[in-house]
Amino acid sequence: MSKLTRFGVSLETNLLAQFDALIEKIGYKSRSEAIRDLIRERLVSEEWKKEDQEVIGILSLVYDHASREVTDLLTRIQHRHLDVVISSTHVHLDEHNCLEVIILRGQNALVTKIADELLSTKSVKHGKLIRTTTGQNIS
Ligand code: NI
Repeated sequence: MSKLTRFGVSLETNLLAQFDALIEKIGYKSRSEAIRDLIRERLVSEEWKKEDQEVIGILSLVYDHASREVTDLLTRIQHRHLDVVISSTHVHLDEHNCLEVIILRGQNALVTKIADELLSTKSVKHGKLIRTTTGQNIS
């Protein structure tokens, strides 16, 4: 663990009360841990603003496999980007629906482009990109 620095923060009483209520509901043991996570969250979102930043994206896609077209397209897009698609898991949810979870690692601009291409594929019922970090620049 890196060196710790203690510092004081002045906040409006009501704002602090709201913050305390929120972190208690979430289950944080201390304000410090909650504030650390808020700072990290902001640092990760800043990473996603830099086009050439190496990032990690976790993409979920739910679709009906009855459409051969969607299955083929999703597979083709992933095979075109072997260097960025580092993992893919397929779960058969029921007789019709499939969940695919794809982990992408690469430059922000490219990860975003591939995720958008997969998300906008016809017949994908729902999809979501979780934007996270390689952790290398976050303490
Ligand atoms: Ni399936």
